[in-house]
Amino acid sequence: MLASGDPRFAPGDLLLSMFGWREAVVAPAATFTRLPTIPGVPVQAFLGVLGMPGLTAWAGLTQIGEPAPGDTVFVSGAAGAVGSAVAQIAKLKGCTVVGTAGTDAKCQWLKDAGIDHAINYRTAPSLLKAVQAAAPRGIDIYFDNVGGEHLEVAIEVARPFARLVECGMISGYNATEPLPGPRNMMQIISKSLKIQGFIVSQFMGLQPEFLAEVGPWVAAGKIRWEETISQGIEAAPDAFIGLFSGSNTGKMLVRL
Ligand SMILES: NC(=O)c1ccc[n+]([C@@H]2O[C@H](COP(=O)([O-])OP(=O)(O)OC[C@H]3O[C@@H](n4cnc5c(N)ncnc54)[C@H](OP(=O)(O)O)[C@@H]3O)[C@@H](O)[C@H]2O)c1
Repeated sequence: MLASGDPRFAPGDLLLSMFGWREAVVAPAATFTRLPTIPGVPVQAFLGVLGMPGLTAWAGLTQIGEPAPGDTVFVSGAAGAVGSAVAQIAKLKGCTVVGTAGTDAKCQWLKDAGIDHAINYRTAPSLLKAVQAAAPRGIDIYFDNVGGEHLEVAIEVARPFARLVECGMISGYNATEPLPGPRNMMQIISKSLKIQGFIVSQFMGLQPEFLAEVGPWVAAGKIRWEETISQGIEAAPDAFIGLFSGSNTGKMLVRL
């Protein structure tokens, strides 16, 4: 920040805005958030594990998933910005975690981060059988970043009263016509499942609690985080499109 008439801000402060990609902006002080400093945590963490994706992960898991020690948590997109935070927060809360990702390297990253079972959904002969083998007693929570077949598998392996946290359905974002729903939706009734979607902005008020719990874990290295960085505004379209082919591990960033 270069200058402000608002006494809460001083030159040199690092501020976060939601104005999108730009190199400079002049706007009312109320549209900015001053980033806290956490020793040992680089500033771009506040765009990922301690920013919007981290809050999405923490709030969706804790407020909707309601994890308890001993629960089995299934996370799709588990090597992404949101998914990698979900998987590790669930571990820290005493859960067994099954994650899926699209490459062996991403699965290895998940195992190195302490995730119990990492499944490459692209090469597994059957996603359902792979999840059943990893979670023979079924799952208590599904954190959905992907939708499609993953959601159908989650319903199939859900235990009674499981919670399905609908965060994203990236497998369907580029569909040109309405997609069919899971074929096993009747199990929502017979197993008394809870399925709830959310938008992270609904949980912005919980940011202090989020930072108070997750900040120390990140600072202590208990939560690992990855970033994939593209250089320059001209690289932004390719970086965005890369999200759909899995070219990122962790948070996809564009450095201006
Ligand atoms: N509800 C909210 O408020 C909220 C907020 C933020 C994000 N989201 C959603 O959360 C999800 C994750 O977001 P993110 O920012 O953390 O992205 P991300 O997971 O870092 O990146 C997207 C990943 O999705 C995977 N993917 C892409 N196409 C796929 C497909 N057809 N099937 C399975 N996996 C696929 C790719 O990983 P692989 O290599 O593993 O395939 C890719 O790396 C997205 O669905 C996003 O829309 C929701």
